[in-house]
Amino acid sequence: MNKMKKVILLLLMISVALQAVEPKRIILNLTETPESSMAVTFRFYEEIDTAYVHYVENADDVKLHLRGDTLKVVPEIAYTDTTNEVAQYACSAILKDLEINTNYAYRVGDGKNWSPWYTFTTAEKGKKDFTMVYLGDPQWGYKTYLPRLYDEAIKTVPDAALWYVAGDLVDYPYEDWQWDAYFEGAQKVFANYPHIMAVGNHAYLWAYRDHRDKLPPTWQPHVTQPENGPEGLEETCYYVDYQGVRFIILNGNERLEEQSEWLKKVLKKNKNRWTIVGIHQGFYPCGWERDYPNYRALFMPLFEKYGVQLVLQGHDHAYTRTYPLKQGEIMDDPSKGVNYVISVSGAKQYPIKSKFDSLYVTKGEEGQQYFQTIDFSKDSLVYKSYTATGKCHDKLVIKK
Ligand SMILES: [Fe+2]
Ligand SMILES: [Fe+2]
Repeated sequence: MNKMKKVILLLLMISVALQAVEPKRIILNLTETPESSMAVTFRFYEEIDTAYVHYVENADDVKLHLRGDTLKVVPEIAYTDTTNEVAQYACSAILKDLEINTNYAYRVGDGKNWSPWYTFTTAEKGKKDFTMVYLGDPQWGYKTYLPRLYDEAIKTVPDAALWYVAGDLVDYPYEDWQWDAYFEGAQKVFANYPHIMAVGNHAYLWAYRDHRDKLPPTWQPHVTQPENGPEGLEETCYYVDYQGVRFIILNGNERLEEQSEWLKKVLKKNKNRWTIVGIHQGFYPCGWERDYPNYRALFMPLFEKYGVQLVLQGHDHAYTRTYPLKQGEIMDDPSKGVNYVISVSGAKQYPIKSKFDSLYVTKGEEGQQYFQTIDFSKDSLVYKSYTATGKCHDKLVIKK
């Protein structure tokens, strides 16, 4: 090795040594007990043995780092992808025994190097009003078009209690740069608002075609979601009760019959005042003349029998909302049927092409991004959909 090469190698080694460890892909997820716990997921691109979540009741002073509790996490090597050969160290933590309806500051790190302080608020106990955000597929435009939508949603409902994303978070899960870009573009949103995520068909796309019926190992290291669904569908099929609203998230990609059996039980024992279903695939799809009659047969009779008010979907990269429907018929009052919405948040867009045109009360315009807000209160549910510049283009009120 000549002298010049030795110097370059030495400089490279020094720069690697000096590189600070930095936690990445930080996200909050709701747990089954949102009034007393919170899930935090993050990872490092550097090898580390032990990670920490440091959390403390939020306050205005700059001595947070001297107070609070620390939860130790053992990182696991995360399967990455075909584009990045460096191992990554994924951390999944559930903060427990938190105070009800309390604002916390938290940070994650290796004990020396920390993320910024982020915040979250635990849920109230019982049935209390709140607002949420719902997004359709992100999938394209992670650091270009999506951040402006997040900013507009935060401006519209800064105090949203939770955000729900209807799947297809990234286009190709085996391309690790996509996860990297998705989390980077959404970092503040993910770190400050607890999320519930549905799993889309793109999460199942894998470099090897014969693996497409099985969830690849890139989903679970990115989220920490409830495991109260059917066995084998942990973190993709589950429910969360939040201040009087039951959110049931279905995995529209596999084992639908089992989920239908499970759904029946979850709907039967439900004392919440509102019931919302989230699933990636649409029951009345609006793109490519797609149709999934088996989904309707398996799930819709249950939605109708047990009074699900809203079904929040993605997959079609366009916006449609149906009339309230019961047994395929249009009802005259939104509370008398099930209301099915399909929306899109990212830059990937499809034209509306559907055999269900007559069932849509509202259709979006091609090439538009949307975000939705839902206000839950005792007597009414107010749903609104907005464009990227904050124009409200659709509104639905469901009265009790
Ligand atoms: Fe999809
Ligand atoms: Fe999609």
